Amino acid sequence: MSTATPDDPRAPIDPADVVARLAPPGRWTIDWTAQTGSTNADLAARAESGRVGQGQVLVTEEQTAGRGRAGRDWHCPPGAGLMFSVALDLPAVPMDRRGWVGAVLGLSIVAGLRRSAAVDATLKWPNDVLIGGAKCAGILGEVAGGLLIVGSGINVSLTRQELPRADATSLTLSGGVADRATLLAAILDELAQWCDRWTAAAGDVDVAGIRPAYLSVCSTVGAQVRVLLPTEHWVFGEAVDVDAGGALTVREASGARRSFTVGDVVHVRTSPTG
Ligand code: BTN
Repeated sequence: MSTATPDDPRAPIDPADVVARLAPPGRWTIDWTAQTGSTNADLAARAESGRVGQGQVLVTEEQTAGRGRAGRDWHCPPGAGLMFSVALDLPAVPMDRRGWVGAVLGLSIVAGLRRSAAVDATLKWPNDVLIGGAKCAGILGEVAGGLLIVGSGINVSLTRQELPRADATSLTLSGGVADRATLLAAILDELAQWCDRWTAAAGDVDVAGIRPAYLSVCSTVGAQVRVLLPTEHWVFGEAVDVDAGGALTVREASGARRSFTVGDVVHVRTSPTG
């Protein structure tokens, strides 16, 4: 199988190439497929029937039914994105802390982008990956068969015309330089380390350093935001914290503080990087 070159960034990912770049190797088992409905759905189905275990990764060139957050779709032209899902078996992490899995992958992506693509990214609550304030990647976490299934779609070489929304970006458009195999290996290395810390801390995101690391790269905290609630109501204010339960705290103009576990955030005014 061919490997991506600067001339052909959409050449198929070679799973052996990803494995060769992992440090240490052996933590992850990598399956590749040219096309599938959804890598999250595939791993979730395998988990439900006990056919997948800790460390299974599924990466694809194209999804025909990619899933996004809140029941939305995820679209990306073939070969233009890094679309993958990971199965995690973390029995030491209590159920009520597992909602952090998206943030844990988000931290791994931010670090992986810095390491392999020389790009500075931030996280928008709960776990959109932004470059220069525009969305470059989305993350979807779910529970299936007692495992955590967490997947991401990273816009790698999409042109402006190929992006699904005007407020999105791709790595290429942001000046990043990474082939997808190198990027995936870097993300998986980071993810392995965060999972070890999370397990060692029995799921406590403060002891594991996950929450402090998240807050340090979260461009939502400190920004003026609008939060669209599932009830279709908007809340306005300054985002001031993400608590250990993963809830976003917003201070309204009245001084009242409200916490949200779900919702879509718009950054109204933010720092130049976020
Ligand atoms: C979002 O709405 O921002 C989350 C998008 C998550 C998309 C990824 S692509 C790989 C994995 N498989 C899916 O069906 N969804 C996730």
